Amino acid sequence: MAQGGVGLGTIARANGITFGTAVNSGKLGDAAYAAQLVAEAQLLVPEWEAKWAALQPRPGSFDFGPLGIIASFAQAHGKQLRGHALVWHAAMPPWLAEGLAEGAARARSLLAAHMDGVLPATRPAIRDWDVVNEAIANPEGSPFTARTPSQGDLRDTPWLRALGPGYIEEAFRLARERDRTLRLTYNDYGLEGDSPWAEEKRQRTLRLLRRLVGAQCPLDALGLQAHLLMDEPFRPEPFAAFLRSVRELGLAVLVTELDVREAQQLPPDLPSRDAAVAERVRQVIGTALDAGCRTVLTWGLSDKDSWLAQDRDVMRKDGQVHRGLPLDEAGGRKPMWQALATAFGTRRG
Ligand code: XIL
Repeated sequence: MAQGGVGLGTIARANGITFGTAVNSGKLGDAAYAAQLVAEAQLLVPEWEAKWAALQPRPGSFDFGPLGIIASFAQAHGKQLRGHALVWHAAMPPWLAEGLAEGAARARSLLAAHMDGVLPATRPAIRDWDVVNEAIANPEGSPFTARTPSQGDLRDTPWLRALGPGYIEEAFRLARERDRTLRLTYNDYGLEGDSPWAEEKRQRTLRLLRRLVGAQCPLDALGLQAHLLMDEPFRPEPFAAFLRSVRELGLAVLVTELDVREAQQLPPDLPSRDAAVAERVRQVIGTALDAGCRTVLTWGLSDKDSWLAQDRDVMRKDGQVHRGLPLDEAGGRKPMWQALATAFGTRRG
């Protein structure tokens, strides 16, 4: 069960910060799960319910059922909602990949039709969307995926193949045309660590953001997924320098999907494991908040409900469960919870 006392969302809000988490509509019937959300989060993001395959499973046929379950829960409990994600190479229904392969004109009309179907229907509940997710290619040596095919800095996706590198800008413009007051976010992962490939990914990201801002593309924010890896070193300086450059472009910075994958070689006992995770979170989130980030979301609240416990690509291979979220499998608050509470409560200039 969630523990009593003031939750992370309340602590954050008292300090001008918004704290939230990913939510899965299928679990909202679980009383303990729902209670944790009510107690801890101020902002919710659907884990899959606003991805393309969920919203438009068949051409022209929209399904807002699962997203509606989350929207009703958010409304009933006074939580904000953000949207994730309009353009992504994953969670695409098969018909979409086929449509994109038919060429640029068809791709453009599919993208416009998706936005026409989704943005008016989710307004006014959702005021902030991940418009494009994970468009940057992973550099050689990245521990996340062996290697993503690429064209220059960009990941080789059906969108890139259909529309060329301009697809990102087109997506942002289409979103802005449909809703002038929506906050439009570019979201990606692997930008936090202190490694040559993370530095390369940061440079690629900066090149993209500079190109977009230079072209007066309607882009408001960078979302850092922050799926952290204990096996990758962290130092505040390179991350802080990157965030400064992003902020200098006039963009806001959000942490959108925080969680931690523990080291392959685990520390000897649970207290040391939890202490290591908490210390990493303290450093990364402290650096982000120091750089002006005012929104932090975790990708779930408890280790039990995390994709890190269930998804084959990211779960542990040794039978252990990653302890990478603020609450343990029983819903108890861990040192990571405390690290977030402390980071949110620290005064910043
Ligand atoms: C993940 C979900 O958590 C999983 O349940 C699903 O199987 C795959 O997608 N980056 C993102 C999220 O932007 O949408 C992903 O969510 C995690 C990585």
